[in-house]
Amino acid sequence: MIQDLIAVINAGGDASGLAREIRAHGVYSEIYPCNKPLSEFNQLANLKGIIICGDEIPPPAGIYDLGIPIYDNSQVGALSSGLKKTWSMENFIADQIELLKNQIGGGRALLALSGGVDSSVVAALLSKTIGDRLVCVHVNHGLLRKGEPEQVLEVFGREFAAKLIYVDAADRFLDKLEGVSDPEEKRKIIGAEFIKVFEEEARKLDGIEFLAQGTIYPDIAESGTDGSKNVKAHHNVGGLPDDLKFELVEPLKYLFKDEVRACGKALGLPDEMVYRQPFPGPGLGVRCLGEITRDRLEAVRESDAILREEFKNAGLEGKIWQYFILIPDIKSVGTREGERSCEWPAIIRAVNTVDAMTATVERLDFDLLQKITQRIINEVKGVGRVCYDLTPKPTGTIEWE
Ligand code: XMP
Repeated sequence: MIQDLIAVINAGGDASGLAREIRAHGVYSEIYPCNKPLSEFNQLANLKGIIICGDEIPPPAGIYDLGIPIYDNSQVGALSSGLKKTWSMENFIADQIELLKNQIGGGRALLALSGGVDSSVVAALLSKTIGDRLVCVHVNHGLLRKGEPEQVLEVFGREFAAKLIYVDAADRFLDKLEGVSDPEEKRKIIGAEFIKVFEEEARKLDGIEFLAQGTIYPDIAESGTDGSKNVKAHHNVGGLPDDLKFELVEPLKYLFKDEVRACGKALGLPDEMVYRQPFPGPGLGVRCLGEITRDRLEAVRESDAILREEFKNAGLEGKIWQYFILIPDIKSVGTREGERSCEWPAIIRAVNTVDAMTATVERLDFDLLQKITQRIINEVKGVGRVCYDLTPKPTGTIEWE
């Protein structure tokens, strides 16, 4: 669909914030880096206005000769009043369905479905468009939270018509991680193994020409490149070998994160998926500190499930940016049933942030903390203490590893 477009030229200001503000007025907006020549601007014909955001970098040469009005940040409301207000989730979904039908035709597409917001929304959109010609591969690396693989199977296997391949690769990942305690090494192993498992599944399938990915607008807009170079780490399957050639399908690449959620909601995904808190690709692997052992990993998973359940009961779900449990590779002395015990401490992390670059600690209710502590020490095997991490970022990163 042809729609009016306002270009936000990123000259060192908050271009994303401004583009979001314009879209909130119902007018489509895209961000252009200062170093991008005008000839590379998309949809130049639909360009109805330009805003230069910030003044640190000179705007692209020739911008003032285009004959397109250049506005000021403060004029957003006024400038959008004369334009076509076509930017809505209903229009976006309808347009994408058309575009995807044109791109994919009668072909088949493959998607690595982690259960995270972005890949879930891609799965919902594509299964609505091409039904069971979408093949989703859900790799359970054994480092997912309690109930996550089951939820993916339930939502996509039953409610959506996509073909779903579930790979239980937990043993394979845990075997590879045996004896490894360095966090970056753990991340590398998990990322590389993920690509390997996905590649093996892709090779078993015939006649798939397309690879769908959950690339979103911040992945491409903030770097000023197009999506192809910038797919996310870990669930990024851009690392596939050269002989496995696919054409990329990236239906969310012009959406901001909150728009991705709105799209998921409009497509009928459950709230737990759409409003899911961020979860690292290497999963619980970086929350079972040091060398990952199966018993301690299980203790992390069970403690985390209790934390999430209690936060939900307390009405905190969706109100705190990220919360989880981690368990270090140490034991502390305690007492159980009159005997000396030696068990792990579980550490609670609950933080708020806008961009994950800095974070503050949530001021949790003391009764809630005590209730969670009681449940964890009573119900989780091997955990004898619970601590609450009060460290903001900086100095502490959100994850411990
Ligand atoms: P840090 O610990 O750097 O975390 O303050 C910032 C945000 O990034 C998430 N995180 C990761 N996400 N792969 C990911 O996909 C990773 O290896 C990874 N490490 C940290 C973290 O959960 C937080 O939201």
